[in-house]
Amino acid sequence: MAYQIRNFVIIAHIDHGKSTLADRFLEITKTIESRKMREQVLDRMDLERERGITIKMQPVRMMYKLKIQSEKLKVGSSEIFNFKLFTLNLIDTPGHVDFNYEVSRALAAVEGAILLVDATQGVQAQTIANLHLAQKEKLAIIPVINKIDLPNADREAVAKEVATLLKISPDEMLAVSGKTGAGVVELLEAVITKVPPPDLHLGEPTRALIFDSQFDAYKGVIAHIRVVSGSLKGSDKIRMLGAGTIGEIVEVGRFNPDREETASLGAGEIGYVATGLKEAGVRVGDTIILEREFGLGPRPLAEYLEPTPVVFASLYPASADNFPQLKDSLDKLKLNDAALSYEMEASEALGRGFRVGFLGMLHLEIISERLRREFGREIIVSTPSVSYRLQLRSGATLMVYAAADIPDEGEVLSIAEPWVRLEIIAPSEHLGRILKLLETTRARYIDTTYLSALRLLLVYRIPLKEIIVDFYDRLKSVTSGYASMGYEFYGYETGELVRLDVLIAERRERAFSTVVHVSEAYNEGRRIVARLKELLPAQVFALSLQAAIGGRVLARETIPALRKNVTGHLYGGDRTRKMKLWQKQKKGKKRLAALGRGAVEIPPDVFLKMLKR
Ligand code: GTP
Repeated sequence: MAYQIRNFVIIAHIDHGKSTLADRFLEITKTIESRKMREQVLDRMDLERERGITIKMQPVRMMYKLKIQSEKLKVGSSEIFNFKLFTLNLIDTPGHVDFNYEVSRALAAVEGAILLVDATQGVQAQTIANLHLAQKEKLAIIPVINKIDLPNADREAVAKEVATLLKISPDEMLAVSGKTGAGVVELLEAVITKVPPPDLHLGEPTRALIFDSQFDAYKGVIAHIRVVSGSLKGSDKIRMLGAGTIGEIVEVGRFNPDREETASLGAGEIGYVATGLKEAGVRVGDTIILEREFGLGPRPLAEYLEPTPVVFASLYPASADNFPQLKDSLDKLKLNDAALSYEMEASEALGRGFRVGFLGMLHLEIISERLRREFGREIIVSTPSVSYRLQLRSGATLMVYAAADIPDEGEVLSIAEPWVRLEIIAPSEHLGRILKLLETTRARYIDTTYLSALRLLLVYRIPLKEIIVDFYDRLKSVTSGYASMGYEFYGYETGELVRLDVLIAERRERAFSTVVHVSEAYNEGRRIVARLKELLPAQVFALSLQAAIGGRVLARETIPALRKNVTGHLYGGDRTRKMKLWQKQKKGKKRLAALGRGAVEIPPDVFLKMLKR
């Protein structure tokens, strides 16, 4: 039977009920037998199920028979309906801001989006961020109010908020409960009528977009694909247009939601290709073509947004011998998480490790957790930092991912740091406290919009550095948990930034360098040396600790020398003998101090404690 295809995603703020709604879709379409059904089936990873959040998107193919009432026939006294069979390809997407990259790839593979809004929460920061992404991809958008079964659901108010946002009438909004299933069949049918079928690009050479991938020990890289034109089948010779790798398809199939082999995949379909290739040969965002059609010069499909890591942290194996295992685990994770980027680095104290780029703090947390759980790696993670763009006096531009890599003042003309557009949605009663919190940062006000009489959307421009460590926790605490926030990268902006160094026994200790705004330099300098004084063990000589910018010392502390009792074995009076010994000890200390300059041993745990806040 011929069938029609609809490809769509569900986008929403975290916890607004995407996975639960997807469960109902799977039941209605009988994609999963009811005895195998469990909650949030599409959240595959243990970590996802424990935290109740979606990290990886999971495509699924469903079949739905739509009753066509307008073509109703009558035979005798019974009515006969016409049915039309539809293939509905759903990609469940993560809701958190740090996984926008996953969302953007999913959006490029579909024609429509259900925009889900929790009837008890209303529009939230990520609702807006995701909506912007879907609008950029020109997707058909179906706004839906969810959780209408809850007693505190305020359907009308939320419908008004969404209507304001989308500039539509509140009456056009569908309302459902993913939990009870109310309204879900109607929603599924709205997907069929409102989402356009895929353009089949008839007569064009075969092209498929890779929107995700995973590794299978037997079948090589499994590329998750959207076939845009032509078709792919087992044993076809294929080429990755960008990477230039050539392979032979081991198997093609669809997601039901488990992988299920099929004879071929045609234009408009979503499925997978087992490529038989190694990790390095397949890149998310690349275009698969048929090798025999290479001569026709097919062009790559629209490139995905390259993920821009904004947060960097160092990852080291807990035991230096385990560096190769950590490398292997990162290589494997990269395949499953295209937004991950890393390069090797070495530290005197911690040995070989990696400087890893992340899309945000939750991304960092999830990657560290996955390394621990899925790969059993014991790792040490430093406090995250942002990247900086430098203008050098020589005229060159330089990107650095650690303060220590910034050259000396004399060589640097200016330092630029990443700024973001910050959107905060919160009940208006918390406005005063939110503004106070923002005053402690370098944020600049942009705009306020009232989403309703009681809720507002604040827009600020703020250096990313100000929000990556604990801003979200502070925002939550001043609003009793009611605020949500999202941010979008604006670009690099030059500021009055300086490299603040730490000198131990007058020698610069690279690992402790940071970048600070000149206005914060003095306080930060004092904080750092005071903390170091607490952490560093005393030496046999007095140890000087200084915070400095260029040559200028801003703060200093001294750890007094360990006083060894050299005269303890002498009893009674001979004062001159004691003096002699003390003199000798003093000389020895001086010599040691000179020797020790630069040779102060810093225990690894001090590095770690300093790296953490
Ligand atoms: P992320 O994947 O983390 O973005 O979350 P999600 O949007 O997939 O939300 P999920 O489906 O995990 O639901 C979040 C919570 O809301 C869960 O505790 C669900 O049981 C609950 N929930 C979802 N839909 C409904 C609904 O229609 N009614 C009620 N009462 N609860 C719901």
